Amino acid sequence: MLVSAKEMLNKAREGHYAVGQFNINNLEWTKAILLTAQEQNSPVILGVSEGAGKYMGGYDAVVGMVNGLIKNLGITVPVALHLDHGSFEGAKACINAGFSSVMFDGSHYPIEENIQKTTALVNACDVLGISLEAEVGSIGGEEDGVVGAGECADPAECKMIADLGVTMLAAGIGNIHGKYPANWAGLSFDTLAAVKEQVGDMPLVLHGGTGIPEDMIKKAISLGVAKINVNTECQLAFAAATRKYIEEGKDLQGKGFDPRKLLAPGFEAIKATVKEKMELFGSVGKA
Ligand code: 13P
Repeated sequence: MLVSAKEMLNKAREGHYAVGQFNINNLEWTKAILLTAQEQNSPVILGVSEGAGKYMGGYDAVVGMVNGLIKNLGITVPVALHLDHGSFEGAKACINAGFSSVMFDGSHYPIEENIQKTTALVNACDVLGISLEAEVGSIGGEEDGVVGAGECADPAECKMIADLGVTMLAAGIGNIHGKYPANWAGLSFDTLAAVKEQVGDMPLVLHGGTGIPEDMIKKAISLGVAKINVNTECQLAFAAATRKYIEEGKDLQGKGFDPRKLLAPGFEAIKATVKEKMELFGSVGKA
């Protein structure tokens, strides 16, 4: 059964570790992440961008697939199904479809509009027991065609949004989606500390988990980050393993073209990546 991310994130913040959000794209991704979470006895958050939701056939298809896998694979660790960087309409659609958690990314709106739209969703999510992530200060890089510059959030604005009663808050601290450029300045821990000071115990979310050095991940967790999003790293691992299989000509040997064989190395690569991240984030054994 899907659960809200609230309890797992509050436990993570209190226990000084973070729960990984791993974005899903298809059945292989979802199965790999769920099985790894179960093997590692770790809570997990499955992230679905609006683009990935559409790709998988729509939000009902995603909910059906995830619920079915949880049941058929005997997954007993806490799993939240979460909309990643949702629009206001997207968040409402996912709430109706049966997601257990949604993000409304109003960071590109003026703060008044972000507050107004986030408030409407706080009320809807409260009634249904769904966790809600809000964002202040856009995360850099490109995701689903939305490009941000890696801003640092205004801590006072973070407090205004946190006070609305959201479950968790994503605040830009110089992080970006995708690979980090060679001249990246690193995370702004001054911003993170200032945000934490303003929002108190609210679990903070670190987007753009791909490629952040281990010491920065650990420091971010020590400063209140309880959820870390990883997407690109699983994609890169999947692509590299699939490339290797084909370059070695394995798809041409016997029934190597069978999708169950062709996609197996990529599946294993996602599992290995997720395991590595769960160990780094400290969520192993915390289910
Ligand atoms: P990466 O693709 O950089 O890992 O970022 C993922 C993310 O933040 C999803 O919201």
